[in-house]
Amino acid sequence: MIDEDELLLIPGPTTLSSRVREAMSKPQQSHVAPEFYNAFKELLQLARYAFGNKEGIQYVFTGAGSIGMETSVVSLIEPGDKVLSIETGHFGQRFSMMLEIHGAKVEKIASQPGHHVDYDLVDSTLRKGGFKAVFFTHVDTSTSIMNDPARICEIARDNGVLAVCDSVCGIAGARLNFDEIKADIVLTGSQKAIAAPPGATLLAVSNRAYEAMQNRKTPIASYYMNLLRWKPIMDDPKIYLTTPAVQVMLALRQALLEVKEEGIEARWKRHETLAEAFRAGLEALNLKPMPDMESRSPTVTAFNVPKGKSAEIQDTLRSKYGIHLALGFGDYKEFMLRVGHFGNISATDVLALLGALELTLTGSSNVRPGIAVETAMPLLQAK
Ligand SMILES: Cc1ncc(COP(=O)(O)O)c(C=O)c1O
Repeated sequence: MIDEDELLLIPGPTTLSSRVREAMSKPQQSHVAPEFYNAFKELLQLARYAFGNKEGIQYVFTGAGSIGMETSVVSLIEPGDKVLSIETGHFGQRFSMMLEIHGAKVEKIASQPGHHVDYDLVDSTLRKGGFKAVFFTHVDTSTSIMNDPARICEIARDNGVLAVCDSVCGIAGARLNFDEIKADIVLTGSQKAIAAPPGATLLAVSNRAYEAMQNRKTPIASYYMNLLRWKPIMDDPKIYLTTPAVQVMLALRQALLEVKEEGIEARWKRHETLAEAFRAGLEALNLKPMPDMESRSPTVTAFNVPKGKSAEIQDTLRSKYGIHLALGFGDYKEFMLRVGHFGNISATDVLALLGALELTLTGSSNVRPGIAVETAMPLLQAK
C-alpha cells in the first residue's frame, strides 16, 4: 500500500497538490459539456503561459510524453528525410529510434558521458547540409544531463533547419521560453515539473513547423499522432476527435493554474535553488552527480553510489524514511540513484532527503553526521 505521506522524489510522476488531487475526484463530466469545453480552453491558455508560447500553436491531448515525441516525428518527418538526432541519454536514443521507425535517414551525435552535446559539432554537422530537422532532449531523465535549448535552436536556425525539443523533464522546472528561443516544436508530459498526473502531452509548435507539415509531399501516416488533424480541435475544443482523459485534463488545468500563481520565473528560480542546495549536500556526502557542472539540471539529478549498493540505499530510504527515489537507468542501475527534484518540492523536502541519506549512509561511508544538511542550509537560507 502507498503511504499518503511518502515523499515521491522519483523523476516523474511526482507528488500532487491537494487541489490537483481534488480536481480529479469530481463526478464524471461529459467531455462535450460547456463546463469541460471552458476548462479546456483555459487549460490551453495556461499551457501557453508555461511554455512562453504566444506566437505558435498550442496543443494538449491525451497520451504519454512518448506520444508527444512520436507525434512530432510522424507529423514533421517524411520517409527519406535527413535529420540529426542528438543523444544525451536514453530519451535521445528513443527519439532516434522513432525517427528510424518512421523512415527518416538519421545522423546521430552522442554526447560524452556526463556532458551536454558539443554545440560546435552540432553546428559543423548541420553545415554539411541537407538536414530537415534536429531532434534533441532538453533534460535527459536517464542521465540528468541538460542541453541548452536556446543554443541548439540558434544553431538550427542559422543552418535553416527545424528544431524539435523533448522537454518532458524541463517545462515548468528548467528555463525554456518557446517564443524567445524560436524553437519549432517543444513537447512535454503532464507528470513531471508541471506536477499533474501522467496522461497528457503538451506541445508548442511554430508557424514555420506547421507550414512544413502542410507542405508535405506525403500525408501524415497516422490518425491520432497528427498535428494537422488536432489543430481544429485546439481552435475549438467542442469538436470531437477522440475522447479526452477528462480527469487528467482537469487536474492538469489545476496544476498549470498553480504554475501561473507561482509565476514561471519564480518557479524556475525555486528549482535552481533547491537543485543547487541538494547537490551541495550530496557532494558533502562524497556522492557525485553524474553530469559535470555545465550540464546539470534543476529538475533531476543522477548520482553515483558505491557499486552494488543502489537498491539497498533505495530500499532503506523508502522503508525507513518514506522517501522514494529511482534507481539509475539501464546500465547505471547498480551504482546510481536518481532524484526528481521538481514540481511541488520544497526546501523542507531537500533537507529531509539529505538527512535521510546521511542516516542511511552512516556506518557505511566516511561522512560526519550532519554535514550534508549543514552544507545545504546556507544555500537555502540565502535565497
Ligand atoms: C526526457 C523524457 N522524454 C520522454 C519521456 C517519455 O515520457 P512517457 O514516459 O510519459 O512516455 C520521458 C519519461 O520519463 C522523459 O523523461
